[in-house]
Amino acid sequence: MGILEVKGVGKRFGGLQALGNVNLSIHENTVHAIIGPNGAGKSTLLNCLVGKLMPDTGSVMFDGQSVLGRKPHEINQMGISRVFQTPEIFGDLTVMENMMIPCFAKRDGAFRMHAFESMAQEGDLIAKAEKMLSDVGMLEKREMVASSMSRGDKRRLEIAMCLVQEPKLLLLDEPTAGMARADTNNTIDLLKQIKAERDITIAIIEHDMHVVFSLADRITVLAQGTPLVEDTPDNIKGHPKVKEAYLGETQQV
Ligand SMILES: Nc1ncnc2c1ncn2[C@@H]1O[C@H](COP(=O)(O)OP(=O)(O)OP(=O)(O)O)[C@@H](O)[C@H]1O
Ligand SMILES: [Mg+2]
Repeated sequence: MGILEVKGVGKRFGGLQALGNVNLSIHENTVHAIIGPNGAGKSTLLNCLVGKLMPDTGSVMFDGQSVLGRKPHEINQMGISRVFQTPEIFGDLTVMENMMIPCFAKRDGAFRMHAFESMAQEGDLIAKAEKMLSDVGMLEKREMVASSMSRGDKRRLEIAMCLVQEPKLLLLDEPTAGMARADTNNTIDLLKQIKAERDITIAIIEHDMHVVFSLADRITVLAQGTPLVEDTPDNIKGHPKVKEAYLGETQQV
């Protein structure tokens, strides 16, 4: 049994079957990569795991509980945090102000802090946010306005915003997209460090095979909304079905 069990998930957009019949097990404390050509359904699958989309069919169980029908912040509270393909930070706010956002949720008609209600606990929360910023190498940028930062730093901030929630499962959709090679390599090192220092499972959607083969323990290849093959990186390299799925893409596996 995986920490995340996806069974028979299907999702249709009008006439397009974006996900067919997806079965996927992600095992605790592994890094599981989901790869596949553009339009394969990778982001749609991730959105079904975090309450952004409701699948038409199937089940998604996390740690023995269904995530379907729950609101995104409830799924966060279950222990799943995610970085979406399009960065979701507030450009007008500082790094530290963005760090505080995941700590609030709407409850009884008002936005309240999740777990910390007294001032002393608020101080704990700030200390924790600073620790996470330090862990991702962003502490000295805490007062910077988010929109003025590089893409790599925006991603670091988003990852720190996830870590402050102490997730059991971290989902990352194309965390290195649009990054220069140096930033990509820094992101690989950061994710390795996060993995080494915590009890955490990571699922990563990636196009960059250098990232995938540097990090993944297991790889699922998705093509046209259906898993084509799932295996170890060594077995995926050069797999004929994988080459077929990537035909026409610039990168070779
Ligand atoms: N909200 C939507 N409405 C209609 N069609 C959609 C919607 N979201 C995704 N699709 C379509 O579903 C298919 C799968 O899209 P998805 O974004 O999941 O692919 P992807 O594998 O993440 O691709 P990429 O590698 O480009 O990010 C695509 O054909 C896309 O155009
Ligand atoms: Mg996508």
